[in-house]
Amino acid sequence: MKPAVPPLSRRILRVKSSPTVALNAKAKALAKEGVKVYNFAVGEPDFPTPKAVVDKAIAALQAGRTKYGPAGGGAEFLQAISSKLKRENGLDFAPSQIVAGIGAKEILFHIGLALINDGDEVIIPSPYWVSYPDQVVAAGGVPVFLPMPEDPAAQPLDVNALKQAATAKTVAIVLNSPSNPAGTMYDERLLHELGTFLCTTNWWIISDEIYEYMAFDHPHVSLLKLFPQLAERFILVNGLSKGAAMTGWRVGYCAGPTAVMKLVRDLQSHSSTCLPPFIEDAATYAIGQGNALLKHEVGIMKTRRDLALGLLKQMPGVKVAQPHGAFYIFIDVRPALRQAKTKIDTMALSEKLLLEQHIALVPGDAFGAPGFLRLSYACDEATITGGLQRLAAGLSAL
Ligand SMILES: Cc1ncc(COP(=O)(O)O)c(C=O)c1O
Repeated sequence: MKPAVPPLSRRILRVKSSPTVALNAKAKALAKEGVKVYNFAVGEPDFPTPKAVVDKAIAALQAGRTKYGPAGGGAEFLQAISSKLKRENGLDFAPSQIVAGIGAKEILFHIGLALINDGDEVIIPSPYWVSYPDQVVAAGGVPVFLPMPEDPAAQPLDVNALKQAATAKTVAIVLNSPSNPAGTMYDERLLHELGTFLCTTNWWIISDEIYEYMAFDHPHVSLLKLFPQLAERFILVNGLSKGAAMTGWRVGYCAGPTAVMKLVRDLQSHSSTCLPPFIEDAATYAIGQGNALLKHEVGIMKTRRDLALGLLKQMPGVKVAQPHGAFYIFIDVRPALRQAKTKIDTMALSEKLLLEQHIALVPGDAFGAPGFLRLSYACDEATITGGLQRLAAGLSAL
């Protein structure tokens, strides 16, 4: 008899594949069949990477920067990140307290592996970016979700709910401002309330600030700037995907306590090894330009947000609040679902809207918030106007 196939990892079997990637793939497949799809599921800026950045990479390739580089990032790149954190965020991190890696995603994955022991709880406020829970599970931890506040725009995170979610097993919390999927930002009042509470805990604080440049109404402030006493437990995560339109280049980094950075670097030395050196050279240039690199494009994003928001505010069956950052609007479709002739949930609604109206919107279920649809306005104005007309038609036909 043939021996049985050995079992798979029970831990990794609990990891689910990314639902946003799946929807985007379906939308792209429809478009390939020749269907005009209004794709609001995209999680990346639609602007090209600035030419000057591309030119740096080409020059670096031609100069032979094509071999392995040091794990965790080369000296020049780490220095450029250190200078950026000082210049733009008012934060002091020596290059030895910074690790660069293959996108914020890999960085977050390695942070999870570095900090979590089996059964440790990690608090994740809802609605959350899809990968946080699965990254915690992959590391052997248990994600503990904070319920979404009733009005996330006014109160993106409820500190009282946070206090209630804390247990003796809590080891970390993941913060994300500006946020994917809701576009919310922590204002100074919330930062103070949150920081004051976190000072009373002994948790790791993982702060994902990847949408920092997409802040439209008030500048992004890192919690660490207001609470420097958290430095020995605070890990800042950022990258060039969103703020420099460089998603495909896969450049992310983290800054934090030396002992944590060492583990993240060690893990990288056994996984991806390093960022490609020619990409690092281009990234060094991009990070040196800071928020000036895409200033014009961020202005365009803000105009799109205002356009989409204006249209949604007039649409029957939906509720929207003003998001202040990232490039998403989290549409509350619960009124439309309540009025629907046949009972339908947001997963089925998203599928129906794609098949019948050819609009791709990610169901809030993917982010721990059923009853909502996430709209990415990283697309042109004609797509926004045309697609939202279809959304109105789709909802009124329910
Ligand atoms: C909140 C958030 N964090 C991290 C990432 C990962 O970014 P990267 O492209 O650097 O891996 C994303 C990408 O969608 C995101 O939305």
